[in-house]
Amino acid sequence: MAVVAGAAALGARSARSHVITFDGVTKRYADGTVAVNDLHLEIPTGEITVLVGPSGCGKTTSLRMVNRMIDASEGKILLDGVDVQTIDPPTLRRGIGYVIQQAGLFPHRKIVDNVATVPYLLGWDKRKARTRAMELLERVGLDAGLAERYPFQLSGGQQQRVGVARALAADPPVLLMDEPFSAVDPVVRADLQDELIRLQNELNKTIVFVTHDIDEAVKLGDRVAVLRVGGTLAQVDDPETMLARPADDFVREFLGGDRGIRRLSFVPADLPLRGDLTVPIDAEVSEAAGAAASSAVSWLAVVDGEGRPRGWVSTEGLPPAGKVADLRLLPYGTFEVNGGSLRSALDAALLAPSGCAIAVDADGKVAGVATREELARATAKVAADGAAQPAPAEQAAQSEQAVPAEGAGRG
Ligand SMILES: Nc1ncnc2c1ncn2[C@@H]1O[C@H](COP(=O)(O)OP(=O)(O)O)[C@@H](O)[C@H]1O
Ligand SMILES: [Mg+2]
Repeated sequence: MAVVAGAAALGARSARSHVITFDGVTKRYADGTVAVNDLHLEIPTGEITVLVGPSGCGKTTSLRMVNRMIDASEGKILLDGVDVQTIDPPTLRRGIGYVIQQAGLFPHRKIVDNVATVPYLLGWDKRKARTRAMELLERVGLDAGLAERYPFQLSGGQQQRVGVARALAADPPVLLMDEPFSAVDPVVRADLQDELIRLQNELNKTIVFVTHDIDEAVKLGDRVAVLRVGGTLAQVDDPETMLARPADDFVREFLGGDRGIRRLSFVPADLPLRGDLTVPIDAEVSEAAGAAASSAVSWLAVVDGEGRPRGWVSTEGLPPAGKVADLRLLPYGTFEVNGGSLRSALDAALLAPSGCAIAVDADGKVAGVATREELARATAKVAADGAAQPAPAEQAAQSEQAVPAEGAGRG
């Protein structure tokens, strides 16, 4: 029943823009290591752009050049067209929140004071800063009772939420997040990801999010930039396009083996629905038999008095009399008719012996049934859309986004 992912910031644009442009940026460390190599990348306003790639590919270096914790060796980083080198670091960082792994909280400061760090630095009076901190704790889903604790008295997931709250304290338009959720267990991690998507729907920040986890990248990113070791850009695209058309073998391997299925998370379940394949739970069995015969099917979805699904019944070998309510109800799955993905519809179908998926509205009421045939047709269409594109090798050669190999030889 998952809603189509990645649509987090679609259509949402703040009045001011906060585009970050990497214009031919190279970082060469003192020992000669080229961490980032001629990076050209535009990070749009109000969206989550994810930088993803294996360890050592230059993600952290790229991020830290934005707020000048590291200075580029060549090229420019522009913030709304202004070279960050011309902005003094404290002023620059006031507009840029920064979140790191394991939150990086000050251990000897209470949670509320950790969150209020930047407001204090900006000279807000203590009451105003604390009020703001309390608002933010609530905003990131933390209980106010935690405010007076110290970081070590919080779980890893809670500390990470505090880290996000702290980064948001002065309401910066830009957020840099460096593997912020990598150190927490998978369940907490999924919660934190969902929370970030929810927050971003409200706040519309320009977010650069770094991770080595491609699933996290695909889940959170409006756009995903894949880097390879040596600091070159392999591909930048929205997740759906990337899953459908990886630019080369490196990206394909990095995306993993089940990218076909994962891609269906981004395809809306735009399926024709049948209204004649349901039967009310208080109907007579004879009614169900009649409905099944006239629709030429051997399954019907049972719907209760509130319009909610209760299960599937097989209409083969029905008793001659009795109520539908007395038949054996078989398992079912549902997907949301508005906003559900094709993946969620297929999942719903796989839960039911009928092989069909029940579409429900936002209130959980049955909107109709998607048949196996329609699910197969929709899946085939997605496959055909993918296949209509040039083969990856061919495409990589044509693509402007794939950085040519010669770039790797520099330095
Ligand atoms: N201060 C440094 N001096 C020399 N090499 C560095 C320094 N910091 C990072 N590197 C090297 O630069 C490359 C990119 O590092 P980094 O940006 O941290 O990658 P990532 O965040 O993708 O793991 C790596 O090879 C790393 O060893
Ligand atoms: Mg890193």
